[in-house]
Amino acid sequence: MKRPPASAPSPLKKSRACKIDPTAKIMDFTNLYECEVAADAFVGPFVEIQRGAKVGARSRISSHSFLCEGVTVGSDCFVGHAVMFTNDKYDVPLPNREYKMRATTVEDFVRIGSNATLLPVKIGRHAIIGAGAVVTKDVPAGAVVAGVPARVLKTRDLSKLP
Ligand SMILES: CC(C)(COP(=O)(O)OP(=O)(O)OC[C@H]1O[C@@H](n2cnc3c(N)ncnc32)[C@H](O)[C@@H]1OP(=O)(O)O)[C@@H](O)C(=O)NCCC(=O)NCCS
Repeated sequence: MKRPPASAPSPLKKSRACKIDPTAKIMDFTNLYECEVAADAFVGPFVEIQRGAKVGARSRISSHSFLCEGVTVGSDCFVGHAVMFTNDKYDVPLPNREYKMRATTVEDFVRIGSNATLLPVKIGRHAIIGAGAVVTKDVPAGAVVAGVPARVLKTRDLSKLP
């Protein structure tokens, strides 16, 4: 059986009011609304991307990941499977808690290992986040971090990277 192209409309993928480049591949069983997906990006199955979130050109969002409001992923990034982003640090005390949206920025060429959880942080260009990491602080460009909470394992030589 010939499969339809991944960009073809399908009742199995929901996208409402999104700006999706025609060259981007959006797999079935996705839920995207009011977000942006740039050229040649890939969004795997069971991914949810919320209002205002952005995925840059050629970036790959692997299956089961969740990109909430406030998340911007740059170009040429790899987001592994089941990567969870957050946008609220519960820093407003109960019971008068109001939702206070905090942004996360992932710069270009970043790789995020499977099952990582990112608190609202900035991830510098060419950084690598280990599988299962919980990232609680900003990650400098080129840093390789892992663990809970994530700590720097090493730093890549940025002069050799694009
Ligand atoms: C973080 C990572 C990039 C480091 O790789 P590396 O530079 O080759 O590191 P090493 O394997 O040499 O490990 C260095 C140390 O960090 C530890 N470590 C490595 N990855 C870790 C992780 N994800 N969480 C916690 N500790 C980790 C190792 O146990 C080792 O500790 P030790 O020095 O006490 O023995 C890699 O382990 C990783 O997690 N990659 C993500 C893979 C992934 O999810 N891919 C998705 C595609 S399906």
